[in-house]
Amino acid sequence: MGLDGKVVIITGPAAGIGAATAKLFASRGAKLCLLDIDEAGLKRVEADCGELGADVLALKCDVSLLPEMDDAISEIIRRFDGIDILVNNAIFRAIKPFLEIEEDEFDKSLFTNIKGYFFLAQKVVPYMIKRHGGRVINVASTFGFVGSSNLSAYCTCKGAVVNMTRAMAFELAGENIHVNAVAPGPIMTEGMSDLIKRVPSVHESRVQDVPMGRFGTPEEIAEVCLFLASEQCSYMNGSVLVADGGFLTH
Ligand SMILES: NC(=O)c1ccc[n+]([C@@H]2O[C@H](COP(=O)([O-])OP(=O)(O)OC[C@H]3O[C@@H](n4cnc5c(N)ncnc54)[C@H](O)[C@@H]3O)[C@@H](O)[C@H]2O)c1
Repeated sequence: MGLDGKVVIITGPAAGIGAATAKLFASRGAKLCLLDIDEAGLKRVEADCGELGADVLALKCDVSLLPEMDDAISEIIRRFDGIDILVNNAIFRAIKPFLEIEEDEFDKSLFTNIKGYFFLAQKVVPYMIKRHGGRVINVASTFGFVGSSNLSAYCTCKGAVVNMTRAMAFELAGENIHVNAVAPGPIMTEGMSDLIKRVPSVHESRVQDVPMGRFGTPEEIAEVCLFLASEQCSYMNGSVLVADGGFLTH
């Protein structure tokens, strides 16, 4: 599956699933626009993608803030003159029991994990329309379907991402824009390591809950994103592809 010359925006590419997706897309010929708040991580992934031969524009951008999105899109258009694919992936996790979540943590979750996805797509889609089509890939989660302790704000957001995906797909299908999501189960990323550091029991419980008996890798989810970005999924729109080692089977 090739992405030759496609201009791809990935949010949250400095770590985890975003970084693996950036590197896989780089190896398939994409032109990459990487948006993250972690400048050191961005530099590392920018260098890795460059070594794989990709043309890369790495920008410090907080996707919870609309003016920063606008600045990033202006730079992307100046550099690449269009946009073909958006991968909404950045995440803020408020890791706390439901009864302890504070308003500012809830707001930050909503602004990064829902508003960020929604408005970045809204700002990018007009450029896809100019190119007569495009792809939006929203990174959701199995926690868009079921609950979890210590992640109530996160689960709230992921449920919204699942139905946002369907609503966008429905409305944008006529513009030849495909909007799909991937719903990963437990994946061993920097974010997951941080969660395990703070709530050590998560490690054992997640492995127990996955029939395949292991965490997934960021690279395994990057492959699903590649499929959703490719011509091979030409009749898919509004789908949520679950990649969870069987987590949702019980
Ligand atoms: N790791 C898992 O087990 C798992 C499971 C299901 C779904 N997911 C989803 O996959 C995606 C990636 O998860 P991950 O575990 O790789 O994350 P991670 O925590 O390892 O990395 C997240 C990245 O997002 C960036 N980021 C955070 N806030 C940002 C902002 N406001 N603007 C721009 N960048 C920002 C971070 O700097 C970081 O580079 C998320 O949407 C997450 O919900 C992950």
